[in-house]
Amino acid sequence: MQFSTVSIHGGYDGDSATGATAVPVYQTAAFAYPSADGLADVFAGRAPGHVYSRISNPTNHALERRLAELENGVGCLVAASGMAAISAVFLALLRPGDEIVVANGIFGGTVSLIRNLLGGFGIGAKFAHADAPAEFAAAISKHTRLLFVETIANPSLEVPDLRALSQLARQAGIPLVVDATATTPALARGRDLGADIVIHSTTKFINGHGTAIGGAIVDTGSYDWRESPFREVRELARRAGSLAFMAYLRNRVARDLGIVAAPQNSFLMLQGLETLAPRMRLHCANAGRLAEWLRTRPRVARVVYPGLADSPFAAIVQRQFAGCGGAILTFDLADRAAAFACLDRFRLALRATNIGDVRTLVLHPASTIFAEYDEAERVALGAGDATIRVSVGIEDFADLQRDFEQALA
Ligand SMILES: Cc1ncc(COP(=O)(O)O)c(C=O)c1O
Repeated sequence: MQFSTVSIHGGYDGDSATGATAVPVYQTAAFAYPSADGLADVFAGRAPGHVYSRISNPTNHALERRLAELENGVGCLVAASGMAAISAVFLALLRPGDEIVVANGIFGGTVSLIRNLLGGFGIGAKFAHADAPAEFAAAISKHTRLLFVETIANPSLEVPDLRALSQLARQAGIPLVVDATATTPALARGRDLGADIVIHSTTKFINGHGTAIGGAIVDTGSYDWRESPFREVRELARRAGSLAFMAYLRNRVARDLGIVAAPQNSFLMLQGLETLAPRMRLHCANAGRLAEWLRTRPRVARVVYPGLADSPFAAIVQRQFAGCGGAILTFDLADRAAAFACLDRFRLALRATNIGDVRTLVLHPASTIFAEYDEAERVALGAGDATIRVSVGIEDFADLQRDFEQALA
């Protein structure tokens, strides 16, 4: 079936007891069984079923099946947040002494996790420019266990050449882990781009309406865990085959860490998925128009949007995301005071730290999500003092343009 059909019907076979057309919210911690044997069989994996919602839950499971199908992956695990999903992948695969190679300019929360928490566990990180596979190649050592990039980095808006990075990962025998939050499977399926593990903050475009926090991990099935450097997953893969990583992630990492998604939130993600494809088309169209228009404004010193025809990433956006540069753009005014004055004047766009909402959101990254960084680092990350980040919503463009016009006046 085609993408939108799966996004509406995938992962749900209907509810024979009630006929509910939407996936019900199974708001329960535990599941009762008619016999001790029955419960023991499900616990041991001899029979299918749910025992406790920290481990699995039918609403979460429907979302996992739908996302796995949309990504064309072998399995999916949903988590309490995007950060929980990223943490789970790192904790599953990395041990003290290991290293990872990470794209520059990615989400500040992920950088903080890598530098502070992973660093504290003795896991090293080297950073490379997303669009320079040679820098990644030079950074890979015999200790490197994975490459980590975002499909469109938030907020630097750099776009990696995923095919090239996938080849490098293959040569090194390690997985390419891709945070595809900014693009979602509506713009590109991670597997088609060469990603081995895809991560989403479902909080963003998948939810789409800013109503819940969530994350997801998909194994695309392209990495051979049987030959991997990850001992526990490798041993499991020799018995469990291609599902080994998902099994390890669910039954060991997620179960023991307790990163479970709330079923109510998974319901909201399922509902969001139903309109993902048309929303992404509207987001991309509005972002492209806004980027072009902002460039014509005399007070705007610079506009960064990878979908612009003369962006250094235009060709790669064309190849990887069918020409859609996503919904996030940044623009620079004269200085911080001008950026704050402009931000304070928005009437329709909301001053808020989120992306992927149907509502247009504006933010001064340097004084918020990148406040911990020094000025030189912020500039390198594309979040200088004069920069405003916009997560472009799907309002009517004429209204958005009017709001930006009066805010810039
Ligand atoms: C690209 C990206 N990945 C991960 C996250 C973290 O997601 P969450 O806020 O759901 O934990 C974010 C949040 O902004 C993000 O932008």
